[in-house]
Amino acid sequence: MRFDRLGHTCVIGLQWGDEGKGKVVDLLTEHFDASVRYSGGANAGHTVLVGREKFALHQLPSGILREGVLNIITGGTVIDPAVLLGEIASLRDRGVRVDANRLRISDRAHVVFPYHRREDVLAEGAARGDGKIGTTARGIGPCYADKMNRHRAIRICDLYRPAKLRERLSAIVAHKNALMRSVYSSDETFDAAKLADEYMEFAGQLRSFVCDTTVLLAELAKAGKRILFEGAQGALLDIDHGTYPYVTSSSCTGGGVASGAGVSSAMLQSRIGVIKAYSTRVGSGPFPTELRDGVGDTIRERGGEYGTTTGRPRRIGWLDLVAARYAALLVAPTHLALLHLDTLSGFEHVHICTAYRYGGELLNTLPADAYLLEEVEPIFETLPGWNSDLRGVRRFADLPETAKAFVRRISSEIGAPVGLIGVGPERDQTILVEDMS
Ligand code: GDP
Ligand code: IMO
Ligand code: MG
Repeated sequence: MRFDRLGHTCVIGLQWGDEGKGKVVDLLTEHFDASVRYSGGANAGHTVLVGREKFALHQLPSGILREGVLNIITGGTVIDPAVLLGEIASLRDRGVRVDANRLRISDRAHVVFPYHRREDVLAEGAARGDGKIGTTARGIGPCYADKMNRHRAIRICDLYRPAKLRERLSAIVAHKNALMRSVYSSDETFDAAKLADEYMEFAGQLRSFVCDTTVLLAELAKAGKRILFEGAQGALLDIDHGTYPYVTSSSCTGGGVASGAGVSSAMLQSRIGVIKAYSTRVGSGPFPTELRDGVGDTIRERGGEYGTTTGRPRRIGWLDLVAARYAALLVAPTHLALLHLDTLSGFEHVHICTAYRYGGELLNTLPADAYLLEEVEPIFETLPGWNSDLRGVRRFADLPETAKAFVRRISSEIGAPVGLIGVGPERDQTILVEDMS
């Protein structure tokens, strides 16, 4: 993959999140002028290793770690000002410059309030059995629900109208307090006046970053700047097309880029689908290839598979190509970035799931019904593994033949060339692939 030939590009996860988008975006931003977050919020956790330093980014685009890259958070996202300001402060402490030349946020983005975070936690607590989604508790679902509902939503631009904000918050908080009491039997109350003061203070601190990011992106494109769109979550967590209801509340497939960023879909010249050599998911939901044994534990430990946002151990499974092929229908990747190939070293055999069986029937695509998906039997193909440590390999030609065959098989199943292979978390632990022969 030649980074200089990609044009405006989006990076999208093809699984249930945590595919390694942060690493891929970090590699790409060296060749881009702007890095854009267009969906989700502080539920994302993107890890970037710069030399010996490890950064975990939640609200900010990963391009913030490259001097010279303008970082933009657009209107399709939900912004928790406390988290965003905390992240900015912690980056500044570590010597990263964050000012209005490096960061812009949309006046149209929706704002996460403490009552959203509480509602998220209480709704999960009240859910019984398989009703729990296993959210990140960042208030994402309640904030997007208020956005869709329209009566009780606050956007960034609303924070700069003090009288109106106080009036709106007073009505919203009365409703939220009633909800706490009647639905969740909680005595907890929120104070509208206090929240208004606190959020106006946040708004003051954010003021220099706020703008119309659609106009900004159009100007950047017109000036010939190259724009990188950084997906959050993954296609299988998409609100419309993922394993509903065990999904997030935003659009994390290809379609979400244009609507979330406020650009035309015609703008996207390349789409990089990010996929791991195995599967993971955090939270509840169907996971046909899940490994509940020592093999899963080995992969978790080797791959460092613990949540970047919540620290939860990630559930591990063999690569599910039925799910990944479905994700590829939604994203139409021009290239694949295949990460964590190093993590699968040392197994005599590796397995890929190419179909499911359900009630005697063979399924080649992902069913809509999450409860049915819980019951399918994965059909695995067994491929020979590889033993050597791949972390020092930098050329496709130098990979063991069995690892090459694994990579080629994934490429042909998904129907897109593999342009990048991850052989470790660090920047240089990467193989750029021109051809897979
Ligand atoms: P994201 O949410 O898609 O950005 O992914 P996360 O950052 O949540 O999780 C990916 C994890 O894998 C992080 O700890 C990365 O540092 C690590 N990582 C990324 N690519 C590779 C790779 O090729 N090999 C290994 N061993 N680790 C990787
Ligand atoms: P990145 O960008 C992995 C999962 C949660 C839960 C479901 C709903 O790092 O890949 P939410 O808090 O969004 O309402 O939770 O979605 N989830 C993620 N899983 N990576 C993420 O982001 C995720 N963001 C949300 O674990 O199952
Ligand atoms: Mg993550």
